Amino acid sequence: MKRLFESYKDYFRLGAAISGIILMNDDEKTAFFQQMKARFEDFKKNFKPTPQFPEFKFPEPQPLPAGTMPDTQLAASQFNLVVAENECKMGSIYHKGPDGQPFFDFAAADRLRDFAKANGQDMRWHTLVWHNQSPDWIFKNDDGSKASPELLEERLKNYIFTVGERYRDDICSVDVVNECISDKNFILRDGADRSQWFDILGPDYVDKAFFWAKEAFSKSSLVINDYNLEMVPGKREGMYKLVKGMLERGVPVDTVGLQMHINIDYPPVSEIEKTIELYGSLGLKVIVTEMEISMYADREQNEGKFEPRKKYTAELLEKQADRYEEIFECFKKEARAGILKDVVLWGITDRMSWKNNFPVPGRTDAPLLFDGEGKPKPAFDRLCK
Ligand code: G3I
Repeated sequence: MKRLFESYKDYFRLGAAISGIILMNDDEKTAFFQQMKARFEDFKKNFKPTPQFPEFKFPEPQPLPAGTMPDTQLAASQFNLVVAENECKMGSIYHKGPDGQPFFDFAAADRLRDFAKANGQDMRWHTLVWHNQSPDWIFKNDDGSKASPELLEERLKNYIFTVGERYRDDICSVDVVNECISDKNFILRDGADRSQWFDILGPDYVDKAFFWAKEAFSKSSLVINDYNLEMVPGKREGMYKLVKGMLERGVPVDTVGLQMHINIDYPPVSEIEKTIELYGSLGLKVIVTEMEISMYADREQNEGKFEPRKKYTAELLEKQADRYEEIFECFKKEARAGILKDVVLWGITDRMSWKNNFPVPGRTDAPLLFDGEGKPKPAFDRLCK
């Protein structure tokens, strides 16, 4: 099989998010499946209907295939950049021990770093500061009350410097702050909008995280990463104002990360181009950090209405291929202009995509370049020139 990243090596690095599951041995996969099953049973027992989910339709977890999964071989052969889908998030690494002291578990992050080294790939870090998948203890005192700004700041600083110390030489870019723009008003997400970072530390936490990351990850580009920037003009503008202000204050942000969880109909390529060039006009670089093209056009542009499950006909797969191709042509243009540096897909095979059962339980999706068995889809053939 041809190697996809080679088609783009004169333009940008081509990456994929790696689920820690695909690097597990069979015993670890079995243990993971048992955990998922237990969580599923618990969830089912405690399920309370809501207007959005009036009935329990969540599919049962299935055992993971034994042996090397197709994703693992594809990860090694088709991409020259990797990022952990979950294993480098704070909640996976930073824990509180029985003695009340923080401790770090780097096992899964090390495993991905070793995988990348063995395959001659670069590695990104996702992510240092995010309102999701942060451990709950970090925002609290031992008695469960809210931590003071001084304590939280000390814990965050300790985290960033400890991670940087270990991975500085291995990481080419780091998502310093993730998803900090509110979808409600397009300014910094606050405590009422689920950011305990903002709630305790105030708006300065973003600048501070970048200053610490500059020291701790001295060899990386420093990224501010968010979703829907290419979809929602107000959010795009909100990010523009934020980074412009940061640059004026001398904050060392150098790259905007466009997650690009987009779909088969939306947004048009012109919006993607406009978004990349807007941040480029500030002298910033852009990377695409989490791309996939869902078969379902049911996000904001469709007022939250969900499309029913559809058949992935040859025609639909061709349409997806057209869309990948058209957008990658735009990426090449923006790379030639010196703005776009990396493109990362959020997964490898459709079977493993986070879009399965999201936002509709029981509805699978097919947003990536390889099908569930690891066979290349028309979109792969079209991109692999
Ligand atoms: O960590 C637990 C583990 O302890 C447990 O054994 C296991 C089994 O039930 O579940 C594990 O957590 C799951 C985790 O993925 C690891 O598999 C969470 O329940 C699940 O919610 C989590 O989903 C991830 C999601 O981020 C969490 O917000 C997705 O895999 C991941 O693709 C997604 O990625 C995000 C980016 O980080 C940021 N941008 C949006 C993107 C898509 O949502």
